[in-house]
Amino acid sequence: MNHDQGVISRYRDYLPVSEATPVVSLNEGSTPLVHAPRLSAKLGQDCQVYVKYEGLNPTGSFKDRGMTMAISKAAEAGVKAVICASTGNTSASAAAYAARAGMDCVVILPAGKIAKGKLAQALVYGAKVVEIDGNFDDALELVREIGALDNFEVVNSINPFRIEGQKSASCEIIETLGNAPDLHVLPVGNAGNITAYWKGYTEFHAAGKCQSLPKMVGFQAAGSAPLYHGAPVTNPETIATAIRIGNPASWDGAMTAINDSGGHLDIVTDEEILEAQRWLASNEGLFVEPASAASIAGLFKCLDKDRRCEKCPFAVVKPGSTVVCTVTGHGLKDSEIILKAEFPMFKAKTDKDDVLRQLGL
Ligand code: F0G
Repeated sequence: MNHDQGVISRYRDYLPVSEATPVVSLNEGSTPLVHAPRLSAKLGQDCQVYVKYEGLNPTGSFKDRGMTMAISKAAEAGVKAVICASTGNTSASAAAYAARAGMDCVVILPAGKIAKGKLAQALVYGAKVVEIDGNFDDALELVREIGALDNFEVVNSINPFRIEGQKSASCEIIETLGNAPDLHVLPVGNAGNITAYWKGYTEFHAAGKCQSLPKMVGFQAAGSAPLYHGAPVTNPETIATAIRIGNPASWDGAMTAINDSGGHLDIVTDEEILEAQRWLASNEGLFVEPASAASIAGLFKCLDKDRRCEKCPFAVVKPGSTVVCTVTGHGLKDSEIILKAEFPMFKAKTDKDDVLRQLGL
């Protein structure tokens, strides 16, 4: 029996692997492309919106797609230890795949800016966690320096194998829809994912697997929007800590994806992100972390004539179009942000009548 159903075994022909590559996999990928009837209704004109629910990967985010490649190639090269900077999800994924491969893993994190669930993951998978009094960009700078020494392989998305693995998501979407979508909306942080999706779409298109290419529409958090402003941001801020990044490593890749696809890049505020997060959970039954909700908040902005930007491709969306929104990480990773918001709850005695009374029934 073939135990491995992961990204490498399914897309081997499109990935830089060989018989000599020891596959380190947790059966990542194959995430559901969930049809979203209420989002589709908002778009109208027979358009269909699908949500690529990446929170159902083994460590709860899309990072596992790239990490299976990065760690497998590191194992092939005989690497004993890996290192990464992270806003949380990369560190969780690196720690899990390193554990699986029997490698040491060091993660460098901005202290106090990592969602608790992600920190718990890095710790329990056995990574050595280093918290610094700087942000993600500072952490990545340190990783570049330490990675230049011989002891460590860097598994951030500056490692090209990460992008290779992550492109599998667009291949899955094409296989499910039978073609590429017309528009693809996703959050942008360090910009590896938008780069990877575009690479996947263009390569699969060249291989004849889809007839068209999507317009790539990226959203950054308003307080952390270097690509939008066209310059690095020194002190990025957003409640969507996963995309709290001021100087994205894959800057050029993101701009190529947006420009070559005829797409667009815009920003959403923290309020819009939180509102979209709740809307998606309470209307479509999908609980995603704040950074992931940036794509839904972005879609709402695109649908609002007064708020969307002049060049927004949704301004000219054709009837019957297909839209995919990637939601990148699971909501349970950052449950604190929900509990902090003090949703109303009821208190009652252990008594049927009191429960009904408190509920007003
Ligand atoms: N959504 C989530 C949940 C993320 O964790 C990230 C990035 C992004 C979106 C943005 O993707 O960086 O490829 O543009 N998280 C990285 C990390 C930076 O360290 O976990 P990107």
